[in-house]
Amino acid sequence: MKANGNHTIDLHDVKKVYRGKIHALRGIEMQVHRGEIFGLLGPNGAGKSTLVKIMMTVVRPTTVKGTMLGRPIGHKPTLEQVGYLPEHHRMPQYLTGRQVLHFYGALAKVRRAQRNRRCDELLDTVGMSEWANKKISSYSKGMLQRVGLAQALMNDPELVVLDEPTDGVDPVGRRDIRDVLVKLKDQGKTVFLNSHLLSELEMVCDRVAILVQGRVSQFGTIDDLTRESRRYEVVIDGLLPDGVLGSFENARSESLPNGTTQVVLPGTEASDVQPLLDTLRQQKLTIVSVRPMRESLEDLFMRAVMDPTTGKALGVGAASNGTSAKGASA
Ligand SMILES: Nc1ncnc2c1ncn2[C@@H]1O[C@H](COP(=O)(O)OP(=O)(O)OP(=O)(O)O)[C@@H](O)[C@H]1O
Ligand SMILES: [Mg+2]
Repeated sequence: MKANGNHTIDLHDVKKVYRGKIHALRGIEMQVHRGEIFGLLGPNGAGKSTLVKIMMTVVRPTTVKGTMLGRPIGHKPTLEQVGYLPEHHRMPQYLTGRQVLHFYGALAKVRRAQRNRRCDELLDTVGMSEWANKKISSYSKGMLQRVGLAQALMNDPELVVLDEPTDGVDPVGRRDIRDVLVKLKDQGKTVFLNSHLLSELEMVCDRVAILVQGRVSQFGTIDDLTRESRRYEVVIDGLLPDGVLGSFENARSESLPNGTTQVVLPGTEASDVQPLLDTLRQQKLTIVSVRPMRESLEDLFMRAVMDPTTGKALGVGAASNGTSAKGASA
């Protein structure tokens, strides 16, 4: 298959059936652009880690087509240019943080001089310099994640694949990790990450995919995926006189308990709301606030995982037959 130069990851028809019955992935199509931060979301058991493990050649796919860094999925030498933080990773407990970085750096064939330099740099980057010479066995969960991230960057990878990098990390640490991801992007690297922390993904991701029961349910920029929900909320003092919204077909209003009235107008651009503001001002109404609003990634996620027929979230885990998954087929 010919690689597209702009796609760091280009996946087609990725399927995985565990033990002949658990359909973890049911035909994934997904492209990750060079130099972007891409977020893979989905409820527990949706197949996120399975997909990552297939890219990292840890799990054998049932079918796969596509490329990573221009080479077919499964081409092991390509992994020299990839950094990987697995989920539930375990590092040798008797090593110090510094020794762990050397150990994984050596496994990734990083030369000793470069290892020494990168080790100090990365320990500083993830805020672990002071703990560098303490044993892994004494680290907290968040510290393990920080060192895990540093480990993934030892080989100065083109592509970084992180499975739940902020799992167990405190808010300061999460912000540090976000800063590292943005720095990587600024250097032109590609970041692919799985996370359940939607507000964090919203802050850093250029594009996202939502997996539901082994299929891609939503895929694109957060802006595109939430476009339909974009609107302006205008709050005015007091009640809205009858007929004022006459020429604004899509607008609706609601009086709020604090004596104000909220007018909601669908729209994406500031220019969409100006005629409404003009009308309200002509009526000598006091405008208290004008706020552009859109669905959050959490709303989008909830919509994607909700079963439209039952109104309940689609269950945890992959169904064991090929028929019960909901969500748009990829
Ligand atoms: N080694 C395995 N053998 C059998 N089934 C597996 C195996 N690994 C994963 N599964 C099943 O495949 C499905 C997808 O699991 P996966 O770990 O990829 O989900 P996930 O999206 O990463 O979930 P989480 O958010 O909980 O990490 C689940 O039903 C899981 O039970
Ligand atoms: Mg997982």
